[in-house]
Amino acid sequence: MATDQVRKRVEWLRAELNKHNYLYYVQDAPEISDAEYDELMRELQSLEEAYPELMSVDSPTQRVGGRPAAEFVTVIHARPLLSLSNGYNEKDLREFDRRIKRLAGMEDMDYVAELKIDGLTVALTYEDGVFVQGATRGDGVQGEDITANIKTIRSIPLRLQRVVPGRLLVRGEVYMKKEDFEDLNRRRETAGESLFANPRNAAAGSLRQLDAKITASRRLDAFFYDLVLWEGAEAIPPASQWQALENLRLWGFKVNPHSRVCQDIEEVIEFCHQWTETRDELPYEIDGIVIKANSLRLQEELGATAKAPRAKIAYKFPAQEVTTTVRTIEVSVGRTGALTPLAILDPVRVAGSTVSRATLHNEDYIREKEIMIGDTVVIRKAGDVIPEVVRVIKERRTGQEQPFTMPIHCPVCRASVYREPGEAVARCQGSACPAQLKERIIHFASRDAMNIEGLGPAIVNLLVEEGIIKDQADLYSLQYEDLIRLKRFGDKSTKKLLQAIAASKGNPLSRLIFALGIRHVGAEIARKLALHFRSLDTLFHASREELVSLPEVGEAIAESIIHYAREEQNRVLIEKLRRAGLDFTMTHQETEQGTKPLTGMTFVLTGSLKSFTRSEAEELLRELGARPASSVSKSTNYLVVGADPGSKYEKALKLGVQVLNEEQFQALIKKAREEN
Ligand code: IVH
Repeated sequence: MATDQVRKRVEWLRAELNKHNYLYYVQDAPEISDAEYDELMRELQSLEEAYPELMSVDSPTQRVGGRPAAEFVTVIHARPLLSLSNGYNEKDLREFDRRIKRLAGMEDMDYVAELKIDGLTVALTYEDGVFVQGATRGDGVQGEDITANIKTIRSIPLRLQRVVPGRLLVRGEVYMKKEDFEDLNRRRETAGESLFANPRNAAAGSLRQLDAKITASRRLDAFFYDLVLWEGAEAIPPASQWQALENLRLWGFKVNPHSRVCQDIEEVIEFCHQWTETRDELPYEIDGIVIKANSLRLQEELGATAKAPRAKIAYKFPAQEVTTTVRTIEVSVGRTGALTPLAILDPVRVAGSTVSRATLHNEDYIREKEIMIGDTVVIRKAGDVIPEVVRVIKERRTGQEQPFTMPIHCPVCRASVYREPGEAVARCQGSACPAQLKERIIHFASRDAMNIEGLGPAIVNLLVEEGIIKDQADLYSLQYEDLIRLKRFGDKSTKKLLQAIAASKGNPLSRLIFALGIRHVGAEIARKLALHFRSLDTLFHASREELVSLPEVGEAIAESIIHYAREEQNRVLIEKLRRAGLDFTMTHQETEQGTKPLTGMTFVLTGSLKSFTRSEAEELLRELGARPASSVSKSTNYLVVGADPGSKYEKALKLGVQVLNEEQFQALIKKAREEN
């Protein structure tokens, strides 16, 4: 048994270690040497080993991470994590200012302007001042439990510096400093490991590690900016964002020192301009400025739209531009045979990642911009957006540059290339072109189409290259023996893929129509066509007049459907699919008389679902007898939440309405269908 004296010593060591940890990692002002720190740590470790009853989850010895986890556990956020709406210029910011003043009925408005750290959001929970749980953002409704990983970040307090009674939820951004990112990549390069594209990806890759020891070995840091909730009998929630930041600071969190109170939007704009100029001088990357109405009462009152709070906005920095050289121009072939020229560039860093290619769209684009092979060009990339060539710097031309001409033969199958008059795009005319075939099959299997899990681009490429499939219908005659001999397949993956393919035969008609890849027929139009024609044969026999009589169908779509239905190769494909047993009629959506498995139930949907559009989900529900409603009330049976849900989610939590995530919803639908 530990004596009082040992107990006191342990307490003292922990307090001392926490203090020096804070001075070193948060304040950047250490008072003792690393050796002295290590000495204190060793003493604490040996006492905890000798007296296990003194062990505590928030002890400074607990940062290094225990055994690797088998998988991340899902955490449902107590408050959903919304996104921010974006502003790109002064006009957007002034409009935001006018809007919230109008909504609030106020003439003046003060704001807090904060740097928008380019990292990963984390949501932390403290109970009575002790860190108990850390989660990733995930889809905003549920994230992953990364408690062990969070503990390895030295600047995050395991125990707050003041007594904070009750439950506290805070949010912040975990990031990696530019220097640490470069260091990490250098080490990875030496070790022959793949490189991270930017500090943000490196931070994400480091934080989402099942083995927290790996996280511990990476230098991660975090700024906190949001006090989401403080509840408990003695909680004293702050009145303003500025005060909330001050609280976070006092409790021991690292709060960004550049945040500022601005008396009006003009001061905010000035702040945005200043950081647009000086952001590169910071040791970490930022991608904008977050502007928040200072009054938290007002933030609460103004509430949120479906996706974002009304009283906050993110000012996004203008796209960064850099110059590089066009090494060559390659041409790729898409699903519809479209030839797309692609600039292969000397790799350059821009907006946080290395860019080595940029799409040039089509011949006209190249002509308009007067791009030649060998040119020095200005390229631009904003956030995750695909890089584009802004302009050529003609002054840098040496005379060695070569003009680009579209090939007259397809670079993949050598068939002729034809550009229809009036069209910008040149297309390969070879109907058996493997590039087109691959793209068509990839589309067929994709999530919004036949949704064949496990049949991604790599597998499709392999199947086409090995000559195992020659069209989409061949998927349905694949045998175990065809797959198992391929290098990517084992027993389990083979069976799984075959099962997924077989299951796709039961997909609703709308998916099949979309999956065929008829030009101009997107998922939404496919659904409308399925609802109207109710069978594939009726659709393909429809006249132009009948097609254009649908409000969503214009001349181009009608023309494209008729053209598709007439084409001999397509007819062969359709017959093969029919023989394979695919559902060509709308049995799923057919309404029958009598009660259905979900009769009398009310469902509300919020956020975006991955496997269906909103209207598809509603259609499914109706088909099973349920009533989709638009707002949550006590009589709602279920709220289905997708990514980035709106305020309905909070309301459902308040009213105790049962909440389903997408998987649970799918399981429920599946069961109801079986009963149907
Ligand atoms: S406030 C409703 N403040 O930016 C979301 N966010 O585009 C309120 N971010 O995922 C967020 N720095 O993780 C806020 N000072 C800051 C931020 C910040 C970075 C991130 C945040 C969110 C994203 C929103």
